[in-house]
Amino acid sequence: MHERRESIHGQWSSRMAFILAATGAAVGLGNIWKFPYITGENGGAAFVLVYLLCLLLMATPIMMTEIMLGRRSRRSPILGMQALAREGNASRHWSLIGWMGVASGFLILSYYAVIMGWALAYVFRAGSGMFEGMSAPAIRAHFEGFAADPEKLLLWHTVAMLLTLTVVARGVRGGLEGATRWMMPLLALILVALVGYNMGSPEAFYQALSFMFTPDFSRLTPQSVLIAMGHAFFTLSIGMGAIMAYGSYMPERVSIARTTLIIVAADTVIALMAGLVIFPVVFANGLEVGAGPGLIFQTLPIAFAQMPWGTMFGALFFIVVSIAAWTSAISMIEPAVAHLVEQRGFTRVRATLLLGAIIWAIGLLSVLSFNLLADWTLFGKTFFGLLDFVTSNIMLPLGGMLMALFAAWVMRADSTRQELGLGRVSFALWRLLAAFIAPVGVLLMLLSGLGLWQ
Ligand code: PFF
Repeated sequence: MHERRESIHGQWSSRMAFILAATGAAVGLGNIWKFPYITGENGGAAFVLVYLLCLLLMATPIMMTEIMLGRRSRRSPILGMQALAREGNASRHWSLIGWMGVASGFLILSYYAVIMGWALAYVFRAGSGMFEGMSAPAIRAHFEGFAADPEKLLLWHTVAMLLTLTVVARGVRGGLEGATRWMMPLLALILVALVGYNMGSPEAFYQALSFMFTPDFSRLTPQSVLIAMGHAFFTLSIGMGAIMAYGSYMPERVSIARTTLIIVAADTVIALMAGLVIFPVVFANGLEVGAGPGLIFQTLPIAFAQMPWGTMFGALFFIVVSIAAWTSAISMIEPAVAHLVEQRGFTRVRATLLLGAIIWAIGLLSVLSFNLLADWTLFGKTFFGLLDFVTSNIMLPLGGMLMALFAAWVMRADSTRQELGLGRVSFALWRLLAAFIAPVGVLLMLLSGLGLWQ
């Protein structure tokens, strides 16, 4: 594996292209839709603090590790892990990491596309001026009516899946890279404008700031700690091989450590900004911070209904959310598509269509869990809630932990160090985090969050 090969799927054209594509995978519904609502449900600042700590101590070193595993193997995650295990004289069962990742990607995309569909639907709702002059309760009721309508959700879920598959079918350069190049800067720009707008109501803005940054640890439970950790993995798209696949298309000379830090910083700033866009509206209108998955759809249209140019801003905002979701969605299916192409000789288009159809079908259960099957619950969660909980909070952290253990304990230190391109001190720090701190942290949080350990 030391001879420098390219992945058979091609390569990003530059370091910038990799950064944009990986940031595109990282920045998504997790930042704009999920982070605000789980922060609301889990009590605010203390939750944010645990999330940031997990990001720094576990998710960042694991992201570096995952990119490194991809670039070292130059293959899709399943075959890549097999090849790396062979190189380290270890069991080929390490490829289980790749299989678990493929499963996580399927399950996550199946419900993610449903929410992406909501965002797409709201582009047209906001853009038609429908919310102008509507009261807060009416806007809330509108969302509830929408979620209760399985046909509408199904239609938008299908549109979201088709958009995703179109990009993936076009391959690394033509599809993945082209799509992310202009979408990310636009997203940042619109968020800045909306935060600026909110600063015009200092009282609500201040309330939002203190909700997000003044911790009250009494509100933290072992389960909310687990959710904060799971979200650190989810938001960076790590623990399931998407980033490993993207790393396998990374040019040789690019620094993994430096690019990882840029991606983590961009992802974090965007999530915090999304909080500062959403919470002031919640507080200014006396809404419920713990409203759950509908939060952004029930709050932001209220702000758009009142602000000058609100119709345009509203449409633009939901366009950006859709785009952010889109650039993430494509990364979830990429490892499985690349695998079928590499191992089974599928064409990219056939692999994409086959896998897309399966994921679309699983998604039907999530669609129905908001309406006809809303009463089907397990451990107090609907199918959608359960899928999200198990993938984000169990499968991704477990996958990430195994990758860290593999890189730190199975691979040879000289090859990891060379691939990561770190100096002596930073390599020692990476090793400490990947070999001990991240795996032990994940394990303890998993056990206590699942109630298996006090
Ligand atoms: N990071 C994405 C987000 O924050 O929306 C979600 C995600 C993408 C998770 C890709 C996992 C993945 F492989």
